[in-house]
Amino acid sequence: MSLLEIKNCTIRYQNGEPAVSNVSFNVEKGEIVSLVGESGSGKTTLIRAILGILPSGGKVTEGQIILDGTDILKLNDRQMEAVRGNNISMIFQDVGASMDPVKQVKSQYMESILVHERIPRDTCIERAVSMLKRMHLTDTERVMNAYPFELSGGMKQRVGIAMGMTAQPKLLLADEPTSALDVTIQAQVVHEIRELRDKYGATIILVTHNMGVASYLSDKIGVMQKSRMVEFGSRDEIIFHPKEQYTRDLMDAVPKIGGKRFAR
Ligand SMILES: Nc1ncnc2c1ncn2[C@@H]1O[C@H](COP(=O)(O)OP(=O)(O)O)[C@@H](O)[C@H]1O
Ligand SMILES: [Mg+2]
Repeated sequence: MSLLEIKNCTIRYQNGEPAVSNVSFNVEKGEIVSLVGESGSGKTTLIRAILGILPSGGKVTEGQIILDGTDILKLNDRQMEAVRGNNISMIFQDVGASMDPVKQVKSQYMESILVHERIPRDTCIERAVSMLKRMHLTDTERVMNAYPFELSGGMKQRVGIAMGMTAQPKLLLADEPTSALDVTIQAQVVHEIRELRDKYGATIILVTHNMGVASYLSDKIGVMQKSRMVEFGSRDEIIFHPKEQYTRDLMDAVPKIGGKRFAR
């Protein structure tokens, strides 16, 4: 059984135009699936629907979203809350900006771990510090004691990503987590995302507009354009044998490094 089955899913906002039109794909346990495509094509809408956290006015009007065998569209709010609490993490595009401004990083971080697990305070702090270091935040003491306004945007974003990964989620949904980071740090964060899968078997759905990132990380890639998924296939199919001109255009936009466009 697939961990996630999206079947003929159409999602609309109040204006009635589909933001996502008749999209279907499956995600197997332990896979990394990237969703790529132009701005406004429906990527964020689609991954938010998987967690039942569409912005108000957004609704899945057709189709099914089956997570671990459960049709989540049939769940009430309390049941959906329980699904989300069961070790699913979402890293938002502006996760840094959404940190609580009046709490030190340390206390927000502890809370984010303790909702999932009952572990001693020291263990919590050790895990947090180790993940911050892996996000290239080396002065961990300063970061842990800081209030969000004392950190730069890029630092906050990395703290947010670290928090999302520390719980070792079995399903991680990440919406352009690294887009705002500079290239070196982005590479490190992307590497850590892959480690989360390789070490802990996490299943990951990643939205990225960067085909290079998608190529490096993914087992499968879905290409979205104007609310439709125009192509979905294995990483190699999409990178080396794309069927759609639109996919080729996306790839042509990736800079070549050392004569090669797609590293692994
Ligand atoms: N909260 C919202 N209310 C109304 N329309 C929205 C909302 N969020 C997104 N949309 C519309 O849905 C479509 C898909 O948007 P989105 O999922 O954010 O795309 P992407 O993440 O690929 O940039 C766009 O046409 C966008 O204008
Ligand atoms: Mg988006």
